[in-house]
Amino acid sequence: MSQLVAPANGKLGILIPGLGAVGTTLIAGVIAINKGLSKPIGSLTQMGNIRIGKRTENRYPLIKDFVPLASLNDIVFGGWDVYADNVYEAAYKARVLDAYLLNDIKSELEAIQPMTAVFDHEYVKNLDGTNVKKAPTKYDLALAVMDDITQFKEKNNCSRVVIVWCGSTEKYLEAGDVHQTIEAFEEGLKNNHPSIAPSMVYAYAAIKMGVPFANGAPNLTVDIPALEALALQTQTPIAGKDFKTGQTLMKTILAPGLQARALGVKGWFSTNILGNRDGWVLDDPDNFKTKEVSKLSVLEDILRPDLSPELYGELYHKVRINYYPPHGDNKESWDNIDIFGWLGYPMQIKINFLCRDSILAAPIVLDLALFMDLAKRANMSGIQEWLSFYLKSPQTLPQLRPEHDIFKQLIKLQNTLRHMMGEDLITHLGLDYYQDVVDSLS
Ligand SMILES: NC(=O)c1ccc[n+]([C@@H]2O[C@H](COP(=O)([O-])OP(=O)(O)OC[C@H]3O[C@@H](n4cnc5c(N)ncnc54)[C@H](O)[C@@H]3O)[C@@H](O)[C@H]2O)c1
Repeated sequence: MSQLVAPANGKLGILIPGLGAVGTTLIAGVIAINKGLSKPIGSLTQMGNIRIGKRTENRYPLIKDFVPLASLNDIVFGGWDVYADNVYEAAYKARVLDAYLLNDIKSELEAIQPMTAVFDHEYVKNLDGTNVKKAPTKYDLALAVMDDITQFKEKNNCSRVVIVWCGSTEKYLEAGDVHQTIEAFEEGLKNNHPSIAPSMVYAYAAIKMGVPFANGAPNLTVDIPALEALALQTQTPIAGKDFKTGQTLMKTILAPGLQARALGVKGWFSTNILGNRDGWVLDDPDNFKTKEVSKLSVLEDILRPDLSPELYGELYHKVRINYYPPHGDNKESWDNIDIFGWLGYPMQIKINFLCRDSILAAPIVLDLALFMDLAKRANMSGIQEWLSFYLKSPQTLPQLRPEHDIFKQLIKLQNTLRHMMGEDLITHLGLDYYQDVVDSLS
């Protein structure tokens, strides 16, 4: 094992603000997997392999055998929600997993009760829960969250804790003065500044305590200079934002292929219908705007119209999301892509993806939690760009362009793991050993 990474001794607490469809699907899934009832499909940490050394060495261990990750048996779950339903009730209402599976693990799910949430109706107009903390200032609320974390850790005998935000998408917010420095942010917490969102209160509490924090929604949350600086000061890994599932996953698989072959793209129209609580929240224009900005950034960054104006200069990209209750969590998305090839001849691609939002998101939450915990034990702090692989709108330093191409993101993730474990990075050049193989054949 690498000298650089501390071992994963003891229990890992995964705390989740937002025990809705995604959060409960993750928790139920891990419990079912630990009971041997199911498999962690879609989780790179559990099912993915990584190549080590030269191709001639034929070494492809499972990632979980290569890096010291917490074992699924050592995870304890907890969280916060504005509704008081326990995780069994919340999972049942989310209607993602079937009742047979939920009943097999009912007692474990019922035992997880949400802690009272930090909530502000102004940020999510379509929700009205009552399981909410009350305190005179946002600073006091942050102290209450710190207290929750400490108590959870002690009660469950955890040696480490990570937090992954699975709460609703908050209304659109741009970074302002209060988000620029630690001092301005702390002052804002004490003065109840309206631009400090509830997700930022959780994030501040976590980072202040050195607890890794990943953001699965498109809210700004940790993507502000004040919390980035605090993360470096307290040596805390942070990552965001917005889980890359469904339509955007398809986009970041397909667009790099078109771009790699220098095929032109004139238009990309994406529309979705979904009927879960997330869809209901996104039905409010202020909340949809947050999601729209996150979804739109992807194509321009992959296709780079600035570098290839003849191919992508006229790109028209439109994203729509419509709330449609009959589909529940089973989102349906359509993409119409107008492309052009040799001599400008037009072609079309149509994608109709009948996906399951939370089934795609749950393994991402698991991997982010395990890798954030690994990063902390590897003494990595601040923005964890190597986890962009999981995120629709990856957080970077402001001077850097985010990388959206899923294949480049995977190479970066794998090389980061090799680097942590003191293995050679893989450049895919191969010239150093190609001749050896040729010689051995002659
Ligand atoms: N499922 C996906 O594929 C996917 C992909 C990308 C991003 N996301 C994001 O993940 C988040 C969760 O999605 P979901 O489908 O589980 O939604 P959901 O509505 O089922 O669950 C969100 C939960 O968060 C709770 N909540 C809201 N504000 C809170 C607060 N301040 N503190 C604590 N709890 C709070 C709500 O009561 C709700 O139970 C959403 O922001 C969504 O946009 C989901």
